Amino acid sequence: MTTLPRVTGEAVARIEARDKVTGAASYAADHPLDGLTHAWPVTATVARGDITAVDDSEALRDPAVLAVLTHANAPRLADAGDPMVAVLRSPHVAHHGQIVALAVAETLEAARAAAGAVRVTYDEQPHDVVLTADRPGLYTPDEVNAGHPADRRRGDFDAAYAASEITVDAVYEVTPLHNHPMEPHAATAVWDGDALTVFDSNQGSTVVRSTLAALFEVDEADVRVVSEHVGGGFGSKGTPRPHVALAALAAKAVGRPVRLALPRNRIAAVTGHRAPTIQRVRLGADADGHIDALAHETVTQTSTLTEFVEQASVSSRMMYASPHSLTTHRVARLDVPSPSWMRAPGECPGMFALESAMDELASACGLDPVELRIRNEPPVEPDSGRPFSSRHLVDCLREGARRFGWHDRDPRPAVGRDGPLLIGSGVAASTYPVWVFPSHAEAYAGSDGRYEVRVNATDIGTGARTVLTQIAADALGVPLDLVRVSIGRGDLPAGSVAGGSSGTASWGWPVHKACTDLRQRVSDAGGHVPDGGLFVRADTEQEAGGGTEYSRHAFGAQFAEVQVDTVTGEVRVRRMLGVFAAGHILNPRTARSQFIGGMTMGLGMALTEGSFLDPEFGDFTERDLASYHVAACADVPEIDVHWIDEDDPHLNPMGSKGIGEIGIVGAAAALANAVHHATGMRVRRLPIHPDTIL
Ligand code: MOS
Repeated sequence: MTTLPRVTGEAVARIEARDKVTGAASYAADHPLDGLTHAWPVTATVARGDITAVDDSEALRDPAVLAVLTHANAPRLADAGDPMVAVLRSPHVAHHGQIVALAVAETLEAARAAAGAVRVTYDEQPHDVVLTADRPGLYTPDEVNAGHPADRRRGDFDAAYAASEITVDAVYEVTPLHNHPMEPHAATAVWDGDALTVFDSNQGSTVVRSTLAALFEVDEADVRVVSEHVGGGFGSKGTPRPHVALAALAAKAVGRPVRLALPRNRIAAVTGHRAPTIQRVRLGADADGHIDALAHETVTQTSTLTEFVEQASVSSRMMYASPHSLTTHRVARLDVPSPSWMRAPGECPGMFALESAMDELASACGLDPVELRIRNEPPVEPDSGRPFSSRHLVDCLREGARRFGWHDRDPRPAVGRDGPLLIGSGVAASTYPVWVFPSHAEAYAGSDGRYEVRVNATDIGTGARTVLTQIAADALGVPLDLVRVSIGRGDLPAGSVAGGSSGTASWGWPVHKACTDLRQRVSDAGGHVPDGGLFVRADTEQEAGGGTEYSRHAFGAQFAEVQVDTVTGEVRVRRMLGVFAAGHILNPRTARSQFIGGMTMGLGMALTEGSFLDPEFGDFTERDLASYHVAACADVPEIDVHWIDEDDPHLNPMGSKGIGEIGIVGAAAALANAVHHATGMRVRRLPIHPDTIL
């Protein structure tokens, strides 16, 4: 075998790029099937109650309408242990917008009209959807998202805080946020006897497959889930959502293939969102800015259906040296739609609060905010005492400051001007943990010199397919075009979810292992693959759980410059710059897009996005992309992204850390800190709308 240049580290273009831009790539609602029918949801118009009657007589008058499914007439699903997919099982309404019926018809138009003609009557009960920091009913959960303990204490926070020379005590609020992937949640389902095929939009079809098997009480081997291309998820497709259970249920009920593409204005209530948080941060430091006491206390909400607790205080356990620390979470169970994962759950809102408080501390100490962070760099992870596998936050801060021209700025607030505009700049740190989950892969060598690698990875638009091909080609020692990587099908070797920025490490590891082994097998065979080929299977059940002797995180530093119009109150971003340290960057092209995408989403969180839970009708008032404004090209200035290539031997054979989520972490704080520098005004509640400024 010849030695080839390594292709990991190269800016390889997406393998499916041409298919995507020509429309050849098939998404979940793109599959034409004989006899295909269409479904449209009917959603609850009360926030809490019980269905007393469903009148479908008007809907069924159209002969194109095949069925109106409700809890009363739908085939009953088994309990799969996930309340979000327990659809049409009960007359109880747990939140406004919950799907209470499904119209199925020959055409999309007939299904939509039928859904609109269904009359549901309710025994309505009073609802409670208002979160405040001191409301009754707040409780401490057993644990918060990602398995962290809800509360941690180190040292004696109260005494240390009381004795501190300089203190900051501030409350930060983040409104609910919605994932709104470009492709709304969709599934096309067809039964053949007890065998089910589903084309589904998700972030991991291994779990979709096992969940459908449990719901319909069939063998997993009889469930085929195809998720070849997925138009984003940002966490909202991390576990199966109601659309896939409903499509399969309807297909069973009408005996025909069913397509259900949730309308954009229905996904806000049934596919998850980032729960609002109210976060109190207290920092106690000496006059030189050394933090002695740190408290981060989060209050948030969950639904009556499920307990999901946004772990906003968790990053404060590992960011800065803090001998005395208190980090807690309290949650209220409200009559609201179920929250779930949204890009960097926990770290994203939590670091908005912590990194804003750090800026306030820098002001109080009269210190440069970059210098303040450097002074509080911990030698080991404060909470656990474990060494970091690698931690280049200081390098990111210094490199970012140099590139941004940070030290040229006048540190005084409200002095920068450009005509009628106030100009300011801000900085914040980013972090995201290294997750890796066990996965399986297979590699085949054909006698024709070609290779096939199989792993049930999901490419949600990140470039996963491309990076896995790079990893495989390098491990095999062959050119890229001889390797075909098959992903996105539930019957492939089980892969973990495309979530927690874990995909490349989790799937790449068994791919690397199988391909390294296969390369050896080919070499042992004298470089000649026999007829029938060679085959290797690998898993990482052992490796993926290991490495706990190190604290493993990616880090970054973000800088932002804003202009504030004091007449209109409008904040515009002039430029953003991020420097990240996330292990080896395996594909600079797709990685850059991930970082820019995350920072853009952080810009949206800071300035344009945000959902309001209306206390009267108990649902979000923003349910489309007109009212929920995702930052568009006109909102996004130059975003400049760099990284420090880390050589960290404690990660995985590729030496990579996840990069999908860290870009959103810290971005909103950098912008809010820039608004403070521009105006002298502290903004502690997101989003920063014109009325915040005026
Ligand atoms: Mo990401 S919120 O873990 O899909």
